[in-house]
Amino acid sequence: MGLFKFIRRFKDMAITGSFSRWYDKNTRENRIGEMREYAKEAAKYLTEQANVLEVAPGPGYLAIELAKLGNYNITGMDLSADFVEICKINAKRENVNVTFIEGNVSAMPFEENSFDFIICSAAFKNFKEPVKALQEMYRVLKKGGIVLIIDMRGDATKKEIRQEAINLSKSGFERMFMIRIFKSLCKYAYTKTEMEEMIKQTPFIKNEIKESSISFYAYLYK
Ligand SMILES: C[S@@+](CC[C@H](N)C(=O)[O-])C[C@H]1O[C@@H](n2cnc3c(N)ncnc32)[C@H](O)[C@@H]1O
Repeated sequence: MGLFKFIRRFKDMAITGSFSRWYDKNTRENRIGEMREYAKEAAKYLTEQANVLEVAPGPGYLAIELAKLGNYNITGMDLSADFVEICKINAKRENVNVTFIEGNVSAMPFEENSFDFIICSAAFKNFKEPVKALQEMYRVLKKGGIVLIIDMRGDATKKEIRQEAINLSKSGFERMFMIRIFKSLCKYAYTKTEMEEMIKQTPFIKNEIKESSISFYAYLYK
């Protein structure tokens, strides 16, 4: 068993301190395109004034990009107080209105049936209690609402990881760095089958999991 998988048994993997500042800078410099893609995917399912929750937004760029696409009521909730502060600064700089608060996906500080849409990117594998996280998402989602979870696939092959790193990197050094990161993330990421097993333990009425390059997109319907 990998180190992160072992740690996750006992604790949620919040990102804090200098690592949160590095993560913010790296996302701003290298992952805004990815955040825009996810925001566009979310916007397909939204109508004006929709209540949207981003679970574990990290530095908040997905929620911020989504706020630029329409008139939505967006909340971002992360376990890391450091990230919540970074999110507020980033939203102010981009001049968008998003509410960022601190909270744990295992016990969210929201009433049931609060949101039309919930999105969670690159974070599901960090949760100590993934089934509890799904049950909480179900609880705070409105009837007819959708949860979209995007994360790395635990069964991405070395070849797929290498190809993804080639597609994303600008230099040979960056490519090697990315391959290392993806390989370590892959060790504790979930496969489609593992996701399906967890979803079975929740009341979602329907789900669809699409696999793409080294990621999966899981759509859950209430
Ligand atoms: C790898 S980052 C992903 C951030 C962002 N969504 C992205 O796509 O870059 C994982 C995030 O999950 C948050 N996190 C971990 N456990 C959590 C929990 N139980 N509840 C809420 N957030 C959590 C971390 O603090 C961190 O911001």
